[in-house]
Amino acid sequence: MPVSDEDFFQRTLQFHENGARLQKIDPECVDEYDDHSLLKLICITYWVGIFIPIANALRFHTAYVDSMAGSGVTITKKGHILCGSCPGAILSAMDKRHPFELAFAVEKNRARAETLTERLKGIAPTKIMVYNDDILNVSEEIARHLQGTMAYIVIDPEGFEGMTWAGLEPLVKCKGDVMLTWFESDAWRVKCAAESPENKSAESIKKRLTELLGTEDWIKTTSEKELTQLFVQRIIQECGKKAYAAINIPRTDKRNSYLMILFTGGGSGAQHRVDGWKSSIEKRVTSAHGQGISTLLDIKAGKIATLNQWIPKEEKESMKQEM
Ligand SMILES: C[S@@+](CC[C@H](N)C(=O)[O-])C[C@H]1O[C@@H](n2cnc3c(N)ncnc32)[C@H](O)[C@@H]1O
Repeated sequence: MPVSDEDFFQRTLQFHENGARLQKIDPECVDEYDDHSLLKLICITYWVGIFIPIANALRFHTAYVDSMAGSGVTITKKGHILCGSCPGAILSAMDKRHPFELAFAVEKNRARAETLTERLKGIAPTKIMVYNDDILNVSEEIARHLQGTMAYIVIDPEGFEGMTWAGLEPLVKCKGDVMLTWFESDAWRVKCAAESPENKSAESIKKRLTELLGTEDWIKTTSEKELTQLFVQRIIQECGKKAYAAINIPRTDKRNSYLMILFTGGGSGAQHRVDGWKSSIEKRVTSAHGQGISTLLDIKAGKIATLNQWIPKEEKESMKQEM
């Protein structure tokens, strides 16, 4: 029986109570983003639920890699506490009764890395290593640890920070799947900055884009979408990925939405699986609950009326029909 949006989001919010528990370890050290980060976290953890049983059924050793991991707790601008991607993915696999055997988290900010280490300590039975380093310095070492595993790799930068091919390629080439946050508008802004005669850093920005995208073809792109395609195609062609799907995540301020792009290396039915992930999540993101995620979080925090009062009438009717 299909899970209603109401149940889906109730369960999701319940899961994120882990965030409040983890925040008690070093309460001041949190990552601050907007309420829509919850939709990003759903994209990441939902794929755990598809990836991990398949990897186990195929008898692979399993690993999770969070290449830009943060502190393990996100607090939204309105004060809602969420469980960050790294503990979130590891706990989701445990919920599915298929824990990852190994997990690697990389965070270059020392305070966040130290707090993340403490927050992950109580999580068993996954063997977890936290690196306080730049992903550029440690991706090859981590890739060596991933030999013989099926890995789920999450690359979740802020804008373009840390996005270098040299840093990402060793991980993206590993056997398994990759979830990447791609800031399409930011990428386009970087391209425009590289081409601006007034920009004194234009030469170094050009080099950066060419390093990330592999050729100077980015100069010929005429839209944000074309630029994104260059990057996506490089990953598909050079890193052995078989299929991909992308979901647009809106932001509270309605500007600068970003994409969650899932790449899979996985055998037969690869496109079907990533399309399934996309349609399941898009349905939630575009539902009244997903669009009103800020309101849902307020309801959960007891700041406003009950869920039942808030859900629009049409959605209640369609939920009744589904059930
Ligand atoms: C968007 S946050 C990650 C949030 C996390 N994925 C979550 O949802 O809980 C990006 C993090 O990457 C870190 N970072 C940025 N550049 C990095 C790099 N080159 N290597 C490692 N970490 C980096 C930042 O300090 C920041 O904490």
